[in-house]
Amino acid sequence: MATPLIIDTDTAQDDCVALLVALLDPEADLRAITMVAGNVGFDQQVRNAFMTLDVAGRLGEVPVYLGCRGPLVREWVSAENVHGDGSGGLDMDLSGLATESEHAVDTLVRMAAENPGELSIVAIGPLTNIAMALAKDPSFVDNVKSLYVMGGSNNGRGNITAAAEFNFYVDPEAAKAVFAAGFDVTVVPWDPLTLRRAVFDQGRLERIAALGTPLATFFTRVCAATLEFDRKVGIDGTTHPDSLTAALLLRPELVRKVTPYHVDVETAGELTRGYSAMSWGVHGLEPNARVVEEIDAEGFYEYLVTMLSRPTEPNRPIRGL
Ligand code: RIB
Ligand code: CA
Repeated sequence: MATPLIIDTDTAQDDCVALLVALLDPEADLRAITMVAGNVGFDQQVRNAFMTLDVAGRLGEVPVYLGCRGPLVREWVSAENVHGDGSGGLDMDLSGLATESEHAVDTLVRMAAENPGELSIVAIGPLTNIAMALAKDPSFVDNVKSLYVMGGSNNGRGNITAAAEFNFYVDPEAAKAVFAAGFDVTVVPWDPLTLRRAVFDQGRLERIAALGTPLATFFTRVCAATLEFDRKVGIDGTTHPDSLTAALLLRPELVRKVTPYHVDVETAGELTRGYSAMSWGVHGLEPNARVVEEIDAEGFYEYLVTMLSRPTEPNRPIRGL
């Protein structure tokens, strides 16, 4: 039985790879893509999502819903310096393609209520939509079977600041509310997990590029801008926290160690805005999340290589592919 899920995304770079995981893994039953303000311009994120659906040969098969175009209370912060526009310079004719009229927050609430205890959500951008859904319908927490969050660092480095990872930095109030709500939540953090287990170096990237499929070329192109940035900041390859988050929901055998933590997010600090305080149980705080601490890194890479080697037929031509 495939896993019913929604991906809530700020679609750029590895978000696109996470969407491919959910579109192509037979274990996945992707019911909706919900868009949230994050990485790059909101409308560009939507274009990136449509291109991802297209290269997977699934254009028109999964509805795209527009969510919050900014954080709950803060100004939007872009990561265009990291990802470019998230498309790797690819483009396609989007004429005739439309997003759904329902707001993504209403979609999240409705689909969870229509499938109580069955629908998982993979949240790989700022948590604005999830927090809004929670505010709109308190029963959303119980209706959602499991929430997989890419965000924060487990007593490690941030990325947008020394203290904070981007998703939690952009909307710390949303992140704080989500972790206080009582979800069955699993966290895939930036540091140490992503930086130690989900970075693809030059050799791995060359192997993917050599696959020569539309998917592999798409992957190479959308990850190129981030690779350039990563190397400038001392990361030896492309980073894949979002696709890892989706993969761990669908392939739990890739998880090697997961530990209960109490997770809370800083909203009052200036230097520490968005810092994820992850307490490991010696501070008198009840765990409210499971944090992934170890994975089968080789297995995750091979899983993506197998996926990217599939000879999909894009629905429409993608310029630059
Ligand atoms: O910090 C990494 C996260 O921020 C990823 O989800 C990336 O896509 C950006 O949204
Ligand atoms: Ca993301």
